[in-house]
Amino acid sequence: MAAYIVLLGPPGSGKGTQAKLLTDEVGIPQVSTGDMFRAMKTQDTPLARKVQQIMAEGKLVPDDVTIEIVKERLAQSDCSKGALLDGFPRTVPQAEALDKLLEESFHSQVTIVPLLSITVEEAVRRISGRRGCPQCGALYHVEFNPPREMGKCDHDGAKLVQRDDDRPEVVRERYQVYLDNTAPLINYYRDRGLLVELDAVQPIEVITAELADTIRQRTKE
Ligand code: AP5
Ligand code: MG
Repeated sequence: MAAYIVLLGPPGSGKGTQAKLLTDEVGIPQVSTGDMFRAMKTQDTPLARKVQQIMAEGKLVPDDVTIEIVKERLAQSDCSKGALLDGFPRTVPQAEALDKLLEESFHSQVTIVPLLSITVEEAVRRISGRRGCPQCGALYHVEFNPPREMGKCDHDGAKLVQRDDDRPEVVRERYQVYLDNTAPLINYYRDRGLLVELDAVQPIEVITAELADTIRQRTKE
């Protein structure tokens, strides 16, 4: 049976970092709505421009647009065994739409929802040091997870970049948006017996091991 893992947590909590590391461990792809919206940067359409503006302000892209791109993505063949959902759902209507989509299109349901929680100060600290590879998407932190050679990707040597929405004031706004719109999903999934809370302030590899164990146990049940 396919596994749909929803990684829940505020900005900087490690959703992207863990999804990338877990892809190999659990054999299902990362589906990141943030990455998909960022990839629209190169498109010159009214929708793409609107999405870039919303992201730069740290607000949420409308539910209908977000649900549609996830629908298309989950229908692709590499998602036949499920997906590691990173940054989706982010509102109760998105969670309801996901439940409906999984049920109707895949006769399936959300498998487990690991929750990674950090404070707003930790989010600012982590995100201000984050660097990413524009070619392969690898994530680093200048202090907590530095590349072997400063400013260069370990995998392909590309010059590492910072995201447009990673200015401290936008990170604080994104954190507030998380509290207002996404935090209600904690109870949504707790009520359904799917929530698993992990300590997100531990070394990256310790969290990956805990996540992999939790996912393996749940998919065996
Ligand atoms: P998105 O790209 O999803 O951003 P986010 O949720 O704000 O989360 P981040 O990507 O900033 O953090 P992360 O949890 O992935 O942490 P990371 O692993 O990078 O969304 C961006 C925007 O797109 C939204 O604001 C919105 O506009 C739009 N959007 C996306 N999805 C949407 C949706 N469903 N609906 C509507 N709009 C949507 O780690 C951060 C840093 O910390 C890295 O440098 C990393 O190396 C480091 N780090 C990670 N783990 C640890 C650790 N354990 N210890 C120390 N450092 C660590
Ligand atoms: Mg991310």
